[in-house]
Amino acid sequence: MNHALLDIHLTDGDADAALRADVRAGLTAIPKQLPPKWFYDARGSELFELITELPEYYPTRTERALLERSVDEIAVTSGADTLVELGSGSSAKTRLLLDAFFRSGSLRRYVPQDVSEAALRLAMDALAAEYPRLALHGVVGDFTTHLDRLPRGDHRMVAFLGGTIGNLLPEERTQFLRQLRAVLHPGEQLLLGTGLVIAEDVLVRAYDDSAGVTAAFNRNVLRVLNRELGADFVIDAFAHRALWDAENEWIEMRLVAERAMSVTVAHLGLRVQFAAGEEMRTEVSAKFRPAGVRAMLEEARFAVTRTWTDPDDRFALTLATAT
Ligand code: AVJ
Repeated sequence: MNHALLDIHLTDGDADAALRADVRAGLTAIPKQLPPKWFYDARGSELFELITELPEYYPTRTERALLERSVDEIAVTSGADTLVELGSGSSAKTRLLLDAFFRSGSLRRYVPQDVSEAALRLAMDALAAEYPRLALHGVVGDFTTHLDRLPRGDHRMVAFLGGTIGNLLPEERTQFLRQLRAVLHPGEQLLLGTGLVIAEDVLVRAYDDSAGVTAAFNRNVLRVLNRELGADFVIDAFAHRALWDAENEWIEMRLVAERAMSVTVAHLGLRVQFAAGEEMRTEVSAKFRPAGVRAMLEEARFAVTRTWTDPDDRFALTLATAT
């Protein structure tokens, strides 16, 4: 029999207030920008799943293969009794981790965290059936603001996979790691997935695929604003652009206004102008070097315990221990 709990720290009202604040700030900023978290409504999440299957989008399959090869070493090295997964979503990589931690004999409890209550409930129902002896404790929340609500455990390993840390700006990254470190006890761990710096053409193609799925994913944020905030973006009047910022070592996705436009966001009482050719940043996806991963972890008082990389050095999994 399963023992399942679900804590809800994020309501639809909270999400709406956060969306309004982000959109008001982002559309009145110079240059304009929108945070990537608003890509992921139902359609955006489906488009992201399609992206992960594109030939050009190597990160998901690279991380998965790397996890398959190294997950038993990760479990044995970790020895955690509680596996926490931030942004667990559909929990696709979860089973690999759960199976390995069961094989190593240490696992008692799984704590998935996600912003979507619906996704979390679905994932937990499936896991409850598949892993009857596993205690489940879901947390509906935002990993950037609700880390202090994570349930305690004797020895937790927090998995933050997919390279999602690269979607945070440098200051947000530092803040996130410090907050996470603050809720962990010395000896508890973080398993961090990071995309590595590789050839520019490979990187850019991964974010500008020939089938146009990433372009549709990028434009989808405008649909979200139209629906949720009564905005009147003409979606087709924005072009997708992906570029490599060599100085910051990140991919940047932008939406380019193909003509001059005036856009109204009814629920915010806001009207903004786009000049022809104006570019609005919608995502950064930072790539790292091993030394950079180590430095950002050490700055937050984590020590690197071990790093696993794929044969082409495109992706890294780093097990770090709170010091
Ligand atoms: C898996 C969320 C990290 O930045 O590579 C994919 C999101 N954006 N294509 C990434 C994404 C454009 C993705 N993350």
